[in-house]
Amino acid sequence: MKKIITLFVGFAATALMVSSVNAAGGGNEVKDEVHMNMSDKASLQNGAKLFVNHCLNCHSLGYSRYNRVAEDLEIPLHLLKENLMFTTEKEGDLMTTTMPVEDAKRWFGVAPPDLTLVARVRKPDWIYTYLRAFYQDESSPSGWNNSLFENVAMPHAMYELQGVQRMVGKADMHGGDGHGPTLEAGQKLVGDAIFELQHPGKLTPAEFDVAMTDLTAFLTYVAEPAQLKRKTIGVFTLGFLIILLLLCILLKKEYWRDVH
Ligand code: HEC
Repeated sequence: MKKIITLFVGFAATALMVSSVNAAGGGNEVKDEVHMNMSDKASLQNGAKLFVNHCLNCHSLGYSRYNRVAEDLEIPLHLLKENLMFTTEKEGDLMTTTMPVEDAKRWFGVAPPDLTLVARVRKPDWIYTYLRAFYQDESSPSGWNNSLFENVAMPHAMYELQGVQRMVGKADMHGGDGHGPTLEAGQKLVGDAIFELQHPGKLTPAEFDVAMTDLTAFLTYVAEPAQLKRKTIGVFTLGFLIILLLLCILLKKEYWRDVH
């Protein structure tokens, strides 16, 4: 018995260690937590719209089809055609980009990766932080840099919405007597980087955060489209199993009545 308990405790400790290493992700990266609501269709629809308007010219979603997205996110087909698709595309087409890979490599140094599975590889918190962490940097070839992904080859695709921000420095996350870093008025913390807005964009900083939550939710949905239906199926399955259990108990009683 003792051996079994020791084995069990050892196993639990290892599992705990593995999960905490996973949670830490890429070493010392500080990420902001994203608060998505995957059952909020309006949020997912807005994310889809942002993606098609600002990202799809460089990044493909090579494993997603327009009509599947329309069905899952309850986007009426005429709206999809007007807002999300370009004239040459058909409803059942994959969401690929028209940018030739060779050109992309020449322009950016690396081809923009397909983003269908990025939310599984990088995790939603990383994407949410990354999308808000672009800042102006004259020393970089594109004129932009990113505090979470240093020397990134991607330019800031949404500066019109966010505005242009400047990085003031990195924060001491354990400073402020353990209460986190202290910021001056007009400063914003993204991950562990402190930013100041130089030129405001079309959205306020708070609105931009909400828009990036929507975009992150959309990419999280694309990485696993079945998750929208999975919970409903789970509830039905549990309900079915409970009814089955009751029937089995009744059946057992019925059989044993004759034996006793
Ligand atoms: C002008 C082209 C361009 C546009 C527009 C663009 N990207 Fe990118 N993106 C890139 C390139 C190039 C990279 C590769 C960066 C690198 O490896 O240095 C990249 C990388 C990324 C990555 C990191 C992938 C990884 O795991 O390394 C994410 C996430 C991403 N982009 C999301 C987006 C989103 C969301 C949008 C729309 C708001 C967008 N991108 C718009 C060119 C673009």
